[in-house]
Amino acid sequence: MMTATVKLVSRVRRLGCVLAFCFLALFLWGLPGARALDNGLAMTPTMGWLHWERFMCNVNCQEEPDSCVSEKLFLQIAEIMASDGWKDVGYEYLCIDDCWMAPERDSEGRLQADPKRFPGGIRRLANYVHSKGLKLGIYADVGNKTCAGFPGSFGYYDIDAKTFADWGVDLLKFDGCYCDSIKHLADGYKHMSLALNRTGRSIVYSCEWPLYMWPIFKPNYTEIREYCNHWRNFADVYDSWQSIRSILDWTTSNQERIVPVAGPGGWNDPDMLVIGNFGLSRDQQITQMALWAIMAAPLLMSNDLRHICPEAKALLQDKDVIAINQDPLGKQGYRLRKEDNFEVWERPLSNLAWAVAMVNLQEIGGPRSYTISVTSLGQGLACNPDCVITQLLPVKRKLGFYEWTSSLKTQVNPTGTVLLRLERAS
Ligand code: GLA
Repeated sequence: MMTATVKLVSRVRRLGCVLAFCFLALFLWGLPGARALDNGLAMTPTMGWLHWERFMCNVNCQEEPDSCVSEKLFLQIAEIMASDGWKDVGYEYLCIDDCWMAPERDSEGRLQADPKRFPGGIRRLANYVHSKGLKLGIYADVGNKTCAGFPGSFGYYDIDAKTFADWGVDLLKFDGCYCDSIKHLADGYKHMSLALNRTGRSIVYSCEWPLYMWPIFKPNYTEIREYCNHWRNFADVYDSWQSIRSILDWTTSNQERIVPVAGPGGWNDPDMLVIGNFGLSRDQQITQMALWAIMAAPLLMSNDLRHICPEAKALLQDKDVIAINQDPLGKQGYRLRKEDNFEVWERPLSNLAWAVAMVNLQEIGGPRSYTISVTSLGQGLACNPDCVITQLLPVKRKLGFYEWTSSLKTQVNPTGTVLLRLERAS
């Protein structure tokens, strides 16, 4: 009799907890999704390659023919994306950033590529990229000049949208430098979105609208989502741990505002993946890959695919991690807790699965262990009544079966991350 009462009480308690968690879940991410830009694109975060972080505005092809912004660079990267497994795992958009333009528009007011560095022009490059089964992205700016000082699109939105569509461009990164007012910024971003739609060509629209608004006032993300497929919120990524940390810190400080707005068709963009370059340790590269997957971030690599080490390549091509990033449910993850220099992040996935990342932010010492009760994961639902956990990073390993009351113990390297996938067992 005694045992039966205890069992009943514990069941009622458990039910109470589950209901409380359900309520929290509804509150946190059950809000109706804002309307996305109606172009049918970016139903999962965009994947590809973007030249900026690695190649910047190098226009000196005389002295640095292999690393200047030129047709040759993009032809070579296209070739490798198609032949070295990048396209096969989902990296599809090959994107040109700033500094591709000639300093002047042509006699009809159209933008033109620098004739020396892009002798075949953008249309021919697009044809080649398409012949490899890839898509081409290009860059322009809502203001009077691009950030590097090339011609801006202000006053030319319709002409530029038409030019890009005529060339066969598939993505536009639209920057926000040299815009003289917040009104011009907002009007310009909207105008270009509508102009791209009017061309009838499917063009992913990548914005930096909120980044340029933040210093003046809080962006209206519901509106931004109606016009853009993804949007940068924060400063440019650099090839350093400090930069990655600052992006993660900004994201957690603003997660109540930015997480609910992400979803199929519109994503927060924490900027490029710098994995495979010079500044991040192996563990830091793992952290970037894991957290960009949790954040449902566009995966735009900026590195030199012609010279990339096998470890970085394997990490960037990790299908299990990419599957988390590309999960069709399209919910962005968030930081669940921070304690003792550990952060726990989680992301709901389709079929009631969850991704969980434990980050060790301590920059001194060796690997540290972190233990968490699985009841606290996935808003109490991930392992209720039980689950199967697989570690995906730093190495793939089955951790096995966990009951609702179990604890999970992990070891995490300094500045590294353990990424897990939790699936319903029953
Ligand atoms: C800005 C953007 C970067 C890059 C440069 C190009 O800084 O945020 O991503 O496009 O301009 O000049």
